[in-house]
Amino acid sequence: MKAITTIPPVDLTRQHALLNAQLQAAAIEVLHSGRYIGGEKVAEFERQFAAAIGTRICAACNSGTDALLLGLRALEIAPGDEVITTPFTFAASVEPLAFVGARPIFVDIDPATYNLEVTQVEAAISARTRALLPVHLFGQPTDMTQLGDIARRHDLLTIEDCAQATGACWGDRALGSFGEIGCFSFFPTKNLGALGDGGAVTTDDPELAARVRMFANHGQVGRYDYLEIGTNSRLDALQAALLLVKLPHLDAWNLQRCQIATRYLELLASLPGIALPITLPGGTSVWNQFTLRILDDRSDGEPRRDRIREHLRAAGIDTMVYYPYPLHLQPAYAYLGYRAGQFPYAERVAREVLSLPMFPGLTADEQERVALALKDAIAAVA
Ligand SMILES: Cc1ncc(COP(=O)(O)O)c(C=O)c1O
Repeated sequence: MKAITTIPPVDLTRQHALLNAQLQAAAIEVLHSGRYIGGEKVAEFERQFAAAIGTRICAACNSGTDALLLGLRALEIAPGDEVITTPFTFAASVEPLAFVGARPIFVDIDPATYNLEVTQVEAAISARTRALLPVHLFGQPTDMTQLGDIARRHDLLTIEDCAQATGACWGDRALGSFGEIGCFSFFPTKNLGALGDGGAVTTDDPELAARVRMFANHGQVGRYDYLEIGTNSRLDALQAALLLVKLPHLDAWNLQRCQIATRYLELLASLPGIALPITLPGGTSVWNQFTLRILDDRSDGEPRRDRIREHLRAAGIDTMVYYPYPLHLQPAYAYLGYRAGQFPYAERVAREVLSLPMFPGLTADEQERVALALKDAIAAVA
């Protein structure tokens, strides 16, 4: 019997195979340069990334988590401040709020886009609210027109979590160019991934950028002259050199992701018992994930999604669940005092979401195998 090959959720080797020689040459150039921290590669990457996003400045750092933390510190988000965000995201969107002593205020999500339900944001604003923190989850843009109006009306700052949305647009502008600060991750599986950790803050404000750089460099304003308590958060020269090889391909990879998503949407259009992801009119998603919902009316017991996932695994299709629990129900965030039932869509969606294989290089044949296997699994699991 012929063994079935498993289709993985993500395969970076296909993407890198095409750039093997260039990536190796870039790494060797750094090796021979003797300059491994800072330097021209980092500065050049910052220039090119700012141009790609359409902001005046990019300040690179060690991770997307640090980009958020440094951005919050640069904006002087401080103990007692409230920041409105989504409970349905990766913990890194919210951790940095806790680290600066600010209080995350959750608002439920739109179950069609998985992003913040913008129409509920105003009701969550209090006298302590300082900022809005939209997360463009899975590469899908949040409605930045409505959110921008709310921020202006209430004099709030906006910090965009673009970790999963590098290159996505709202209208004709890239995400990360709307808020005071845009925060990006170059974790390997992101749309623009390094071969290790990396992150960046984008902004039009030179003073904010200088503050981000100061906090990323131990709070120094001159050598051994510490104005603030900072940290060490740098993008390695090696990662910058590798990212410079990959950046020119970002648009083509994002286009491929869009084509893959369109094909999934066609292949799965008539499947019963699922909800397909929706991009808001005016938005361009970059499909970091293709995440659908396996509809499930029950709110306890084993999610139907998990049984379908098992069937898929047996058929050689590896899927992912981003994210099985919303943050307001996690022990780490119990101190915020939220209860089960408070964000019904976030809670329901966490039981239902399933991310199908999605990466540049995924073939049409593989997508057909995924679609057929999902159809069989849905038929098998009542
Ligand atoms: C939505 C979101 N925010 C922030 C981050 C943090 O990025 P990093 O892993 O580079 O620290 C991630 C990374 O997975 C993410 O998905």
